[in-house]
Amino acid sequence: MVQKFYIETFGCQMNKNDSELMESSFRNNGFIKAESPDDAKIIVYNTCSVRQHAEDRVIARINSAKNSIRNRGGLIVVAGCMAQRTGQSLTRDKVADLVVGPYESPRIGEIIKIYLNEKNRNSFLSQNYDNFSRRINIKNVTENDKNIWHKWVTITHGCENFCSYCIVPYVRGKLISFKSESIIEYIRSLSLSGIKEITLLGQNVNQYGTDNGDIPFYKLLDKVAETEGILKINFITSHPKDFSENIISVIKDHSNISRSIHLPLQSGSDRILDLMNRQYNMKHYMKIIEKIDKELRNYSITTDLIVGFPGESEEDYSETLKYVKDIRFDDAYMYAYSPRENTPAFELEDSITRNEKIERLNKLIGIQKKISQKKLRARIDKTESMIVERISKKSDSQVMGKTFLNHPVVLPGSDQDIGKNIIIKIKSLKGATLQGIRIV
Ligand code: SAM
Ligand code: SF4
Ligand code: F3S
Repeated sequence: MVQKFYIETFGCQMNKNDSELMESSFRNNGFIKAESPDDAKIIVYNTCSVRQHAEDRVIARINSAKNSIRNRGGLIVVAGCMAQRTGQSLTRDKVADLVVGPYESPRIGEIIKIYLNEKNRNSFLSQNYDNFSRRINIKNVTENDKNIWHKWVTITHGCENFCSYCIVPYVRGKLISFKSESIIEYIRSLSLSGIKEITLLGQNVNQYGTDNGDIPFYKLLDKVAETEGILKINFITSHPKDFSENIISVIKDHSNISRSIHLPLQSGSDRILDLMNRQYNMKHYMKIIEKIDKELRNYSITTDLIVGFPGESEEDYSETLKYVKDIRFDDAYMYAYSPRENTPAFELEDSITRNEKIERLNKLIGIQKKISQKKLRARIDKTESMIVERISKKSDSQVMGKTFLNHPVVLPGSDQDIGKNIIIKIKSLKGATLQGIRIV
């Protein structure tokens, strides 16, 4: 009997890409995608470990669905970073029937088949390099994908930066850059199959090629931008320690590279940056901002910030607030520090209480929100290009997408517009979403 699968994705874009790979592996192995989890026999939770809250959310989700899945004889699969971190205990405690680590995502269809036939192995957590060849493969563009306009393209897997608070290097393993020829060939095939926008993915894309002697990131970006038919190229994430002037020059040279730069700062205090092992200081970070400002002009900048790192004093925290006000990010992902076992920061004395962390976080969010609003408001009356992504969640007669600077926008439209590259005029701002009208 044909089995139906459903994938629920948590965490970062890496996981979104992995879920796409899993979907394609399921289809290639004869499984069918279910419309809802209730309609599926195989439920995959593609999980994240970056903060304790991310893991707690998944466990709560599984616990609330568990009885209904078990009653219909379904299979609970935990995949992704949390599977890699705590896999053995998940199967032992009967939270999951099967655990599959991030390296194994592209062959999950085969793994499930093996499990269903033999049931003698329920843990697939190896970090075997050989499984990587399938990640950059045109076969991953399935029949079902033909109408979509965007694809994630993972260019590096893993991370070797070991920021002292971060679990990622442990769960995703060492830095692996995929071959530049394969990446370019893959993107050419994507373009021929109708893809208009791509996002190059890696924990630190700026480090591309440093592990295998391939071309540096700025040269790869240059080559990708020359691919005919690709109208918009995003790349995440950049690391300030490796963000070179060459990258800014390549962006400037190509009108299809988005001027939306994501450059995680984490903290505005040099002392905390050092404790975080970020390997740059504020002088360096500000130099990059000045260069971007001078060379790109019409750009947007976003960041990640952590408050309440062990030992963060009031002065350290004020430095973060000061730089947030000075730099004026378009948006920021802001977090309270979450201790992760086996990371170096876990060993530091965490003297700041949870309440203090939340207080610091809320104040920071309040300040950033006002800045984001002002920056969005400044887009009113501007003419922008955008690719229509989907029908708006709030109204069937409206569509939504992101402008070239990745600001979210809603405008009148229908499902006929999805995937079209259009020119719009921004008319107003509602909440954190721009409202526009189509002009071309
Ligand atoms: N590789 C990217 C980078 O270097 O910025 C992203 C890493 S992580 C997937 C996304 C963000 O989560 C980080 O930039 C950091 O702000 C946050 N983060 C990571 N570990 C954390 C922790 N232990 N507690 C709170 N936030 C954390
Ligand atoms: Fe984590 Fe740092 Fe690597 Fe980003 S660069 S994934 S924050 S260790
Ligand atoms: Fe989470 Fe793994 Fe991404 S820990 S943030 S899903 S790399």
